[in-house]
Amino acid sequence: MAFTLFQSTLFSNPSLFSRRRTFDFCIQLSSFSTTSAFPSDKFQLHKKWRQPVASVLELGGVKIAKDEIVRDDPTNNVPDSIFSKLGMQLHRRDQHPLGILKNAIYDYFDTNYPNKFDKFDDLCPVVSTIANFDDVLVAADHVSRSYNDTYYVDSETVWRCHTSAHQAQLLRGGHTHFLVTGDVYRRDSIDSTHYPVFHQMEGVRVFTPANWKASGNDATSYAVEDLKKCLEGLARHLFAGVEMRWIDTYFPFTNPSFELEIYFQDDWLEVLDCGVMEQEILKRSGRVDNVAWAFGLGLERLAMVLFDIPDIRLFWSNDERFTSQFSKGQLGIKFKLFSKYPPCYKDMSFWISDSFTENNLYEVVRGIAGDLVEEVKLINNFTNKKGMTSDCYRIAYRSMERSLTDEEINDLQWRVREQVETKLRVVLR
Ligand code: DAH
Repeated sequence: MAFTLFQSTLFSNPSLFSRRRTFDFCIQLSSFSTTSAFPSDKFQLHKKWRQPVASVLELGGVKIAKDEIVRDDPTNNVPDSIFSKLGMQLHRRDQHPLGILKNAIYDYFDTNYPNKFDKFDDLCPVVSTIANFDDVLVAADHVSRSYNDTYYVDSETVWRCHTSAHQAQLLRGGHTHFLVTGDVYRRDSIDSTHYPVFHQMEGVRVFTPANWKASGNDATSYAVEDLKKCLEGLARHLFAGVEMRWIDTYFPFTNPSFELEIYFQDDWLEVLDCGVMEQEILKRSGRVDNVAWAFGLGLERLAMVLFDIPDIRLFWSNDERFTSQFSKGQLGIKFKLFSKYPPCYKDMSFWISDSFTENNLYEVVRGIAGDLVEEVKLINNFTNKKGMTSDCYRIAYRSMERSLTDEEINDLQWRVREQVETKLRVVLR
């Protein structure tokens, strides 16, 4: 088994209650589409009567106003803090570890497939539920569609939870070889490898009958062989001389499906997910007699290993002691932790209600403590004779950049307690 250190795939289980999960408000594909991608007329109507607001972001040529995507509405679960991440586009900064990694992967494709792959890295992250789920065959009852797992702008619009959300749209636009890099959003736990925003790269390559007929192989075997060759080469490009293995898995959008693992620092590490695209996706995009492969990889996961970055919050740091350690084109420079500040632990026990979910708790804590929270962990729970369940969570507060004062932590914890009680309808003990 690979050690799943990181934000793992939501999709590797077909069932309703698989653990993991996986949205754009953008409206138009910067590179080729001129039509509105807002999923509903309803949204367009909203736009007309909305007051102009100061906080407006421009992404991929599209303007997004905060009050269009963060709303006090039962079908909206986007916290304020997420809006601020929208325009950051860490993967487009050449001196940032995520940008350096993206460029190294681009180099691999440019060298091995000159002028073949179209690259997209500023497609709007707010997308329709159709693009995020239906277009890639995610079942109507799949856990990834729940409000608990995904950020919804309204019932038809989400923040993409994976870059696969752009597959169908790009295929329909006539692209047959493409890489899509972008920020993706998931409601999730709090620890050193989980953050509500992270980055993925998606790759797709389409073949026509002429490709596989010349090889004597059937279409699927041809695509699998090409996929494995391409991705093994990519792994070697990033992790020179590494041992690797393929694991069979499941995704709704591919069949067969695989994970690639590499042997790294005495353990197997999952590097990416991939497979042969389900025929139905190609068919719906007007490509009846084609076959295609697709892959998805998590940039933080790889960058943490390649650059020795111990905590996912660091990617968001503006502290010069972090940012100055990386330079354009320099993959694999080892990050030197500038200092480790002391953590402070606070425990909190409460009687849960039926509607309680851990992801809602994490959201409350992040909403108050932001990047000052390092981890939230369930340390004890029991059910009494009356059938009431009590949970005890330990919150670790620690800044990556400075020492926190007792007063500051007490204030944070006080506010967390207050909101946990009012927003989550639990009874503090
Ligand atoms: N979209 C998947 C996720 O985020 C990752 C993935 C798996 C992408 C297989 C692919 C693929 O393109 O073929 O969990």
